Amino acid sequence: MAYTAKDYSNLIGMEGFSETLLKNHFTLYQGYVTNTNKLADLLASMLSEGKVGTPEYAELKRRFGFEFNGMRLHEYYFDNLGGSGVLDKSGKLGRKLAEDFGSYEDWERDFKGTGAMRGIGWAILYQDNVTRKLMNQWINEHETGHLADCIPVLVMDVFEHAFITDYGLKRADYIAAFFKNINWDVVESRLR
Ligand SMILES: [Fe+2]
Repeated sequence: MAYTAKDYSNLIGMEGFSETLLKNHFTLYQGYVTNTNKLADLLASMLSEGKVGTPEYAELKRRFGFEFNGMRLHEYYFDNLGGSGVLDKSGKLGRKLAEDFGSYEDWERDFKGTGAMRGIGWAILYQDNVTRKLMNQWINEHETGHLADCIPVLVMDVFEHAFITDYGLKRADYIAAFFKNINWDVVESRLR
């Protein structure tokens, strides 16, 4: 079953994000969908041709995590944008953030600090599926650092392509714009 790129053109017009930046970002995302499908097909062909165990198979298998997560994380990211940026701190998620981090403000400081780390990747607020605890985590590129059996709740892209067109190297300004557009209803719906 092939993956299909979702349409996020509804996000165009979001404050703090230019149309050029968003359209380029959608194109990059579509590339991950295309490459995920391509790799899945190639790996399936190699399996049927008895090529498992070859260096080519191993490298494509390794690459799959990069392309697949590049696709899926962009979907989490675009899906958690387009909102008002206002979290009801007395709601389920607001209370849980305060409980697990000491206060909402401490959570925000930690999440923004994670996103401001040097390097390219993602900041993800996860919920541990076992303990239900919330954690902020840095993902290097698309595939390194994921926490097993944890559910992404809030996902923020901090590759330079996510902001450099509009903000240059001012990543903190981009992160502030991201926060103004978080769709907290979507984020809260991911919480168990
Ligand atoms: Fe991206």
